[in-house]
Order: sequence, then structure tokens, then C-alpha cells
Amino acid sequence: MKILSIETSCDETALSLIDANGGLKKPHFKILKNLVASQIKIHQPFGGVVPNLAKREHIKNLPILLEKIKASIKSTDLIAVTAGPGLEPCLWAGIEFAKDLAKKLKKPLTGVNHLEGHLYSVLLAKKNKIPLDMFPAIALIVSGGHTILLLMKDLTHYKKLGETRDDAAGEAFDKVARLLNLPYPGGPQLEKVAALGNADAIPFPRPMLNQKNYDFSFSGLKTAVLYYLRENKKFSAANTAASFQQAVIDVLTTKTFRAADCFKAKSVLLSGGVANNKVLRQTFKKQAQKKKINFLAPSLEFTTDNATMTAVAAYFGQLKKPCLSGRQACLPPACRSGRAGRKKHRLIAQAHLNL
Ligand code: KG4
Ligand code: ZN
Repeated sequence: MKILSIETSCDETALSLIDANGGLKKPHFKILKNLVASQIKIHQPFGGVVPNLAKREHIKNLPILLEKIKASIKSTDLIAVTAGPGLEPCLWAGIEFAKDLAKKLKKPLTGVNHLEGHLYSVLLAKKNKIPLDMFPAIALIVSGGHTILLLMKDLTHYKKLGETRDDAAGEAFDKVARLLNLPYPGGPQLEKVAALGNADAIPFPRPMLNQKNYDFSFSGLKTAVLYYLRENKKFSAANTAASFQQAVIDVLTTKTFRAADCFKAKSVLLSGGVANNKVLRQTFKKQAQKKKINFLAPSLEFTTDNATMTAVAAYFGQLKKPCLSGRQACLPPACRSGRAGRKKHRLIAQAHLNL
């Protein structure tokens, strides 16, 4: 099945074309095109994403990207578009474009939950083979807007165990990067500076580490960094970055692997923009090796926002709930476990857009 997908939830305009096959038993994906137009330079002077500027760029970039795959779009079976969560003006830019395209090509259109995209991006790894017996699995999604821990029974059944009560992990990276006067986007810049520092130099707190739940909280940690910088005028940016990064990694790793123990998970999955962090990936990998369980994370290019992951999520959505036709679109199948699942669906999706 050929899927053309569009992702504009934040500051990356992305378009992808994949050939997805194998069903739920043996899913495999051939990536025919994976295009991303980055807006970093446009938002850099503002120190963060400006939604209306991002929307304007999406509207400008989408036809340019489409032109690059024009030759292959006629054979597309399905068009998929990120329907949320994300920045609303940006989402609408993608949705309107996808609706027009679906109409023009007379192809079915489906809406995809952005977080499901991140979740399934773990299947987009060059080195990893998808383990046949990988469930139950614990999945951690760490992005700029979310920090969510899920228990997966199989590829399409999962439930939320916990989430952040305030800032997302990526948001904390971005805010601390700003405190250290690092340019946007903060997360990758902070990782670079942290590589030059000592992670044990400053004993920052590990919020909620010992609480018996799977929730997270990062805003207190960010404030601890702020107070530390105020009180230590001659601070080392490298030591501050390394110690902060280690505090976040300790909390994410401990809580994720505690859940893996508790639910006897055969795999741990790590996704979202923060999964780009090499120290975090290494820590998860080592911990999984120690516990003799699988560790899956996307290749680096598929950790941050891209449309290939959107297409993969759309594929699983179709296997579960086929689209009818034309403008009729399936809602993002976020959580599918009966009544409780539907409630969680509301919590996760935040994207009941009437396409
Ligand atoms: O998934 P994503 O591209 O967009 C959202 O859905 O939010 O995630 C972006 C987030 C940003 O907060 C960014 O700073 C963070 O991921 N990030 C990183 C790294 N690369 C991106 N955080 C820590 N280390 C990195 N290497
Ligand atoms: Zn994202």
C-alpha cells in the first residue's frame, strides 16, 4: 500500500511517500521519499517557534516538496496528514493542503495522531530488525510537547501509564538551553555543550523519581537550574548542561525500566525528538542489555518530526479501521482498549478535527 503523508504540526514541513506491507504480523516499510524542510533559520532570531511564521512557511513549502515527488503520487493509495496534537495554525496548513490534494487525486484521506507517529517511528531503524516477539512493551515518547509512558500489548493496543504533570522533557531542555544562552533549537545545542562537562558536578534534583507512579515533572528541575545560575555567577555552562541532562536521563530511565520490570516487558521503545539525545539512547540501550530485553529507537533522522512516521501510523490505523473514501477520514486511533481506551484516546489525541 502506497501512502503519501504530510506533517506540519510544528516547525518542520515534511512530506513522505512509503510503500507499507506485511500487515500487523510482519510489517515492513520501503521509504520512497522522506522530505523535510527545516525552519530553524526563520525561528532562530526569536529563540523559539513563532506559530504564524511557521504556518506561513508550511503553506510556502508544501507545494515545493510535493513537486519533488510529483512523478510518483498518482499511484498513491492513501493520503495521511497529522491531525494533532500540535500548533493549531500549523496543523491546519497541512490539513487544508491534504484535503485539496485528496480531492484532486480522488484518494482517501486519513488523520493521524502525531504521538502515534512518534510511537511507531521506532520501527524506522536501519539497524534494528523488528523482533517477532517484542510484546508486552513499554514505550516512552519524549518530545517538545509531551512526555508519555505507555504499556503496549501489541502494535495497536496500548494504554497510558503516566505522563508529565508540567513541562515536557524537550521543553525542559529548551528552557534550560535558553538560560545558558544557547541558540534555538535548545535540546541538541545543550547536548553538545553537555558533552564537554561533568555530569556529577552539580546535584540537581531528580523529580518524582521515588514516587510510586509513572508520572514525570520537569519544571522544578528547570527552576533548580535557574537558582543555581543566579547563585553561581561564575558557573560552568558545560557542567550545568551535563548535570541537568543527567538528571533528566536518570528520571526517564529509572521510571521506564521500573515499568518494564513491573509489566514484565520484553522490549523498551524510545521515541520523540529527545530520543535524538545520544546519552539518553546509550543509557537505555545499556539498561535494556542488562535486563536482557529488546531496545528499539528510530534512526536519528526519524526521532524529530518527519512525515514517514505519520505514514507508518496511518498504515496501522488502516489495518484497524479502513477509511471509506474521499473526504471521509478516520480519527486518529490513539488508544484502543474499550471504554477506558476511549477515555485515554481523548487524553492522548487532543485532535478531534472534523476533516
Ligand atoms: O518530536 P519533536 O521534533 O517535536 C515535537 O513533537 O515536540 O521534538 C522536539 C524536541 C525539542 O524540545 C528539542 O529540543 C528536543 O526535541 N530535542 C532534543 C535533542 N534533539 C531534539 N533534546 C535533547 N537532546 C537532543 N539531541
Ligand atoms: Zn513531534
